[in-house]
Amino acid sequence: MFTAETYVARRAKLCEKVGQGLMLFIGNIDIACNYKDNTYHFRQDSTFLYLFGLKVAGIAATLDAETGEAILYMDELTMDDIIWMGNQPSVSDQAATVGVTKVMPVSKLAGVVEANKGREIHYVPTYHGVTTIRIAELLGKTTKEVENGASVKLIKALVSMREIKEQCEIEELRKHMAVGREMHMAAMTMAHAGRTEAEIMAMVGRMSQRYGGPVSFPIICTVHGETLHNHGYPNTLKNGQLLLVDAGSESPMCYATDHTRTSPVGGKFTAQQREIYQIVLDANNAVAATCEPGITYKEVHLMACRVIASGLKELGLMKGDVDEAVMEGAHALFMPHGIGHMLGLDVHDMESYNEVLVGYDDEIQKSTQFGLASLRLGKRLKEGFVVTDEPGIYFIPALIDKWKSEGICKDFINFDALDAYRTFGGIRLEDDLLITRHGCENLGERIPIEPEEVETEVNKNRFNNF
Ligand code: GLY
Ligand code: MN
Ligand code: MN
Repeated sequence: MFTAETYVARRAKLCEKVGQGLMLFIGNIDIACNYKDNTYHFRQDSTFLYLFGLKVAGIAATLDAETGEAILYMDELTMDDIIWMGNQPSVSDQAATVGVTKVMPVSKLAGVVEANKGREIHYVPTYHGVTTIRIAELLGKTTKEVENGASVKLIKALVSMREIKEQCEIEELRKHMAVGREMHMAAMTMAHAGRTEAEIMAMVGRMSQRYGGPVSFPIICTVHGETLHNHGYPNTLKNGQLLLVDAGSESPMCYATDHTRTSPVGGKFTAQQREIYQIVLDANNAVAATCEPGITYKEVHLMACRVIASGLKELGLMKGDVDEAVMEGAHALFMPHGIGHMLGLDVHDMESYNEVLVGYDDEIQKSTQFGLASLRLGKRLKEGFVVTDEPGIYFIPALIDKWKSEGICKDFINFDALDAYRTFGGIRLEDDLLITRHGCENLGERIPIEPEEVETEVNKNRFNNF
């Protein structure tokens, strides 16, 4: 937990920004997996964590934007609860740790909301149906009305605060990057023929869990890196394949790491793999060299796309003018996603609020062009942002076939040259960057990324007895 003053200061600043009305924050509840007492891993809502810190299921809070009064709605444990989960500090002691002095039973929330019905009631968008229903009941609205009624003012205020990481958040993130590093070092050393994606995924997860933290999103561990969000682990590794691992850990305070590395199974990149790898690495390095306050992430994205297009042109896979190719979106055949996103309490930070309100503004609008439309963050960077830098090159046979048959971007793609890459898979390299006053820094010690470094890690084969 951060200091009580941290939460008090955040709430005071939020009240100042929102100005009027009552803010309603519903914490997450335990969600049943297959029967009531068998629940999914509990994860507190990130907005709730940011403002009220407590990782307790089923609690709520209100914050009066005009008076600044914060109320936590929490119940004391019953004897049944104590038998089930052990004793816990009293609710007032827990509230005190986040600087809240007024606590009421959860059953009193409806009355407080009712008493404030004449005022504007602000809430952030929901992502669990149960929360939508709860707010609908509290406000006497339909769930559709609740879905359409989130407060843009509250979202904008929270984005303006959460996007600039405080020193305590940066320290938490920086400290936890070492766990993210261990996860990937484990994966690299296990990239050997005969290993399964499942056992490597399990080791990657264990590296996070042994520090008490769950993973920050389902692990991607696959020899089919061309499938961007592959959450199955059915394959056994074979020499000559590439193993792509995209994984992160959640810190004790629920801050996320998010890294990707791609390793040659057996410990030696083929010449073809190494050429593509180098282009992705050049793009990754170019992003880190370019990021600074004031530049738009859209421009950083397009710059990385130009690095990729020009590398692919040198290999004879693309042709024509590189700038024009990128303007037309031709590179998106190979990199159909964005160069990165914000990182913080969520791995795609604040994405539950609304991607456009988080990543774009009046100046920079979201594109609808294939590829660029997947860029989650386009606006100008500021000191204190934490962003991912994750270029990739993928050979997706179905997409190649579609573009070829429809002649999409045919002036910029050498479709015939792609035949030799149909079983290549994909490469992505992802780092987490803190935007500093004059540039950016890699958060934590950089995970081995040079091709020789990666080969060395694979060849250590450290876990060959596991
Ligand atoms: N693993 C999600 C991402 O890298 O964006
Ligand atoms: Mn990732
Ligand atoms: Mn990412």
